[in-house]
Amino acid sequence: MQLIFTQAELRTYLTRSTESIGFVPTMGALHEGHLQLIRRARQENAVVVCSIFVNPIQFNNADDLARYPRTLEQDCALLEAAGCDVVFAPSAVEMYPSQPVLTFDFGTLERVLEGAFRPGHFNGVGIVVSKLFHLVQPTRAYFGQKDLQQCLIVRRLIQDLSFPIELVIAPTVRETDGLAMSSRNRNLTSDERTLAPFIQAELQRAKTALEQGTPPAEVKAQVREAFAAQPAFQLEYFEIADIETLLPLEDHQPEQPAALCIAVHLGKVRLIDNLLLNT
Ligand code: PAJ
Repeated sequence: MQLIFTQAELRTYLTRSTESIGFVPTMGALHEGHLQLIRRARQENAVVVCSIFVNPIQFNNADDLARYPRTLEQDCALLEAAGCDVVFAPSAVEMYPSQPVLTFDFGTLERVLEGAFRPGHFNGVGIVVSKLFHLVQPTRAYFGQKDLQQCLIVRRLIQDLSFPIELVIAPTVRETDGLAMSSRNRNLTSDERTLAPFIQAELQRAKTALEQGTPPAEVKAQVREAFAAQPAFQLEYFEIADIETLLPLEDHQPEQPAALCIAVHLGKVRLIDNLLLNT
């Protein structure tokens, strides 16, 4: 496995390849969720590239950026075992020799959920993913459903900028107790870690209520009450959304597709999760 730090080296390495390239962009602190994307890319492509870059311009909170775990050596060992060929781990100045002036506006898609609570986040994601796509020129790019809104943003980016890339979306990988795997889980205290599966349990309860025909407003009120009774958590949002636009659904039929999306603060850690219904 090659570890590459510069854009120039990456270009030189990849121009030799005329074969299919599978690409998994990450911010490191890798876990099984990331590794399943790598393994899937391994099965479907001749060359597998993983990027590890904690992208400063997608963080809207300086503490979150400072606390983001960085474990490059361990990540490389995991990637090698999962069959990755190339790790691209640029520094911030290598990626941004100057602050980008170009901005992305993804319309209504970025005004809801993560976009509404993390201003500028999807602009930062759009810029870094575009740069990485240009550098790696993958045949297929692998993203996790864990970050559902990010998947839809990348789908738009690929369409609007005509990237010749197939987007592959893989299911969310969970711990045995249901907690969605996340690099940020490492920052939970052991008490918080014990409480964290409540998020997924609430999503499941909300899903069942919707399947039984409970109106969205009532389901949302139930979820808000459940979190209000758990002082360790601060609910940021819970939404029952259209699976394409992520706009809130005012009404819902039991068989209708929907995305249940949630963001909560548990201590100092912000966690997101989602469940799809009828898809
Ligand atoms: P990061 O949070 O490191 O995630 C990298 C990829 O792994 C994303 O596609 C994410 O959805 C996926 N992933 C994370 N946890 C997962 C889980 N439990 N199950 C399945 N997939 C999971 O997302 C980013 O980095 C960044 O925004 C990035 C796209 C790299 C741009 O900076």
